[in-house]
Amino acid sequence: MLSNLKPQAPDKILMLMEEFKADTRQGKVDLGVGVYKDPQGVTPVMRAVKAAEQRIWEAQTTKAYTGLAGTPEYRNAMARMVLKDVPADRLASVATVGGTGAIRQALELARMANPDLTVHVSDPTWPNHLSIMKFMGLPFVQYRYFDNDTRGVDFEGMKADIAKATKGDIVLLHGCCHNPTGANLTTDQWREVIAMLEKSGAVPLIDLAYQGFGDGLDADAEATRLVAASLPEVLIAASCSKNFGIYRERSGILMTLAENTGARDMAQGSMTFLNRQTYSFPPDHGARIVSTILDDDALRADWQSELEDVRNTMLGLRDQLASELRDLSGSDRFDFIARHRGMFSRLGATPEQVQKVKDDSAIYMVGDSRLNIAGLNRDSVPVLARAIIDAGI
Ligand code: LMR
Repeated sequence: MLSNLKPQAPDKILMLMEEFKADTRQGKVDLGVGVYKDPQGVTPVMRAVKAAEQRIWEAQTTKAYTGLAGTPEYRNAMARMVLKDVPADRLASVATVGGTGAIRQALELARMANPDLTVHVSDPTWPNHLSIMKFMGLPFVQYRYFDNDTRGVDFEGMKADIAKATKGDIVLLHGCCHNPTGANLTTDQWREVIAMLEKSGAVPLIDLAYQGFGDGLDADAEATRLVAASLPEVLIAASCSKNFGIYRERSGILMTLAENTGARDMAQGSMTFLNRQTYSFPPDHGARIVSTILDDDALRADWQSELEDVRNTMLGLRDQLASELRDLSGSDRFDFIARHRGMFSRLGATPEQVQKVKDDSAIYMVGDSRLNIAGLNRDSVPVLARAIIDAGI
């Protein structure tokens, strides 16, 4: 039986991670996988996470099962962090295995509710979005998103394509810090998208994996809150991997807003059922770290201040890189790097140019020219700037 299996297409981000590990060159720079690194190149455990883990270790008396939907503490704390004003009568939620688990469960839920749906997803998007949908056999189409000339959002193209979504379809949107481009909608543009969804009855699925990495914890949730307050049905897949730095703990959440309490209860039952069918109980340790931090004023303040440091470090690197490139190119054509938000920017380079940067300078970016700003430090920025110019980007 097993010999019937066919080779699966490798994930290009994870493949690059392995290639980087195997590279023996001194001074190599990893701008591939979306993991934050401090100026020393370390992905630190955040102070508040360490403190919360200690508290959990001291207080925990059992490892017995929690609930299929996760703990109420985690779900409530996350709902407050993401939505602020929580419409409790409309909200269903389950803890998931990371943000990826939340995306998968959201798509499963949507298909249970509407077997004929099409998912509308940005071009480009996080490659695993497409891979999951292909694996599930879920029909999807891509809407225009990135303008390779301006390196900003092709909003007219996006609107023209989203207009094709019909009632009961899913429109997958990045809540902030678009992955892989770093180009984001303005609040006015979000309002236009909301009005279109209101008209068509297509349902937004918001992927919120980088809250706190762009303009701030609240600012990055602003669009999600606007959507939640405006539309009758909304799906939100949030991740704690990046903003709490707990990548390997796999802490995510799927939240759905339903039209009324009856539909909310139905959604809650179906989401809990989906957890049971997929992995039964969701992981608890990371979720417990998150609720311990968010429910304690001192830990929360410390976490938020460290998150702000992380965000400002990335903004500083963006400014430095844009400025180096302004000097080297004698033009402002790389200023978009300072305008983009989040971990990533898409340079708009060809695969050959990306390969040249890797071959000549041991700098690893994803083949579509996505670079992880957080993989840089003040010393590697000039090296990257020089490599970009030398590759003719
Ligand atoms: C990324 O886009 O690099 C991250 O979300 C990590 C991943 O799982 O791909």
